[in-house]
Amino acid sequence: MALERRILDAIRDRHSVVIGMTRSGKTTFVANALERLGAMSTHTLFVDPKHDDAFVKLGKVCYTPMQVYEQLLLKQKNIVYRPPGTAERIAGLDRVIELLFGLHKSPGFKRVRRVIAIDEIQLFVKKGGSKAVEMIWTIGAGMGITGVAMTQRMQLLNETCWSQSDNKFIFRIEDRTDYLKSRNLDHFISQQEFFNDEMNKYWFYFTTGGGKWKTHKPVSINKPKSRRRLSLSRW
Ligand SMILES: Nc1ncnc2c1ncn2[C@@H]1O[C@H](COP(=O)(O)OP(=O)(O)O)[C@@H](O)[C@H]1O
Ligand SMILES: [Mg+2]
Repeated sequence: MALERRILDAIRDRHSVVIGMTRSGKTTFVANALERLGAMSTHTLFVDPKHDDAFVKLGKVCYTPMQVYEQLLLKQKNIVYRPPGTAERIAGLDRVIELLFGLHKSPGFKRVRRVIAIDEIQLFVKKGGSKAVEMIWTIGAGMGITGVAMTQRMQLLNETCWSQSDNKFIFRIEDRTDYLKSRNLDHFISQQEFFNDEMNKYWFYFTTGGGKWKTHKPVSINKPKSRRRLSLSRW
């Protein structure tokens, strides 16, 4: 099932959190959304601490804040930032976001809408805080910049991300029942049996705000098309 335009628009316009245990389908879902948004007029930045080659398709791969900055100046629409695998990664992301916000204040960038997706966001948050995350989730939306925070457990997500994100996408999770209740997710508890069933992997539970939650079928992933398929016109 392809992601509806309505969900893509919601991700473009308001902050999102995407939660699910390892291999529950979070990154695939977000990559799919970013690809679709990138094909429209939205600019995207995918922050990939795992340096996963499967997501090279999401843009020009950069390893330093200066490389990202260069690409931003070139108006490269889709960028992948691979921070270093050390403690430096936090400072690296802070710098990238600082440079990006600086540019977005200049006239040439005023109309650019950008979605910044941060995979394994817990790796960038120290003692509950992150300069980059705070910037995106507090002043980003007013500048046309929205965040997508991805992490494995709800507990790993900082409070700002959770409370400032109208869009919440929950894949299979292991968070404890009392924790779910503390996040006003009592209604998810009765759904967990469904999500824990191997038959239903990659399904997710979501809201785009307004208190309405729904279950959603797995997004269809774009397998590389064979030559034959490509040469046949299906329309
Ligand atoms: N909607 C889907 N349909 C088919 N396969 C999927 C889907 N979502 C994820 N997968 C597969 O499951 C595996 C884990 O997905 P991934 O997105 O990396 O999970 P996570 O980011 O939660 O660890 C990958 O091999 C991916 O190709
Ligand atoms: Mg992932």
